[in-house]
Amino acid sequence: MKNEPVDLNRVNAIIEEQKDQKWALIPLMQKIQEEFGYIPPESIVPIAEALHLFPSQVQGVITFYAQFSLKPRGKYVIRVCRGTACHVRGGKSILKIIRRELALDVGQTSEDYLFSLETVACLGACFLAPTMMVNKTYFGKLSPPKINSIIKQYEK
Ligand code: FES
Repeated sequence: MKNEPVDLNRVNAIIEEQKDQKWALIPLMQKIQEEFGYIPPESIVPIAEALHLFPSQVQGVITFYAQFSLKPRGKYVIRVCRGTACHVRGGKSILKIIRRELALDVGQTSEDYLFSLETVACLGACFLAPTMMVNKTYFGKLSPPKINSIIKQYEK
């Protein structure tokens, strides 16, 4: 997951597994991201060639979907909701506390690659506002003490 050279053989093996499936671009990139924690930029050309696309098309899909990243991300990706329902229930101060606790700004990854911090437009769980996710786990009705214990649980 860190800034180490990317094993293109592994990229090629994943491409080979997925190549014959129609519309394989998104599942293929999901597999590559699962393997590396991000989409290594050097895999864009092999992906494009395998699926008969232009590299710019692959790049466009990566940019469009927030789930994909071209940079290594932390083991735990924290996504804080910045939607209206969360905003009116204190989402802004929740984000402020998380930024302070992790000493990270939005879009940054910690030096030890443990955490990345992102925001999203809505996590689709407005009834639990304010919300955030750590990888695939939702946390709602957030409060400062709750945030501290969530972060501690992932720091172990
Ligand atoms: S506005 Fe935050 S979950 Fe919808």
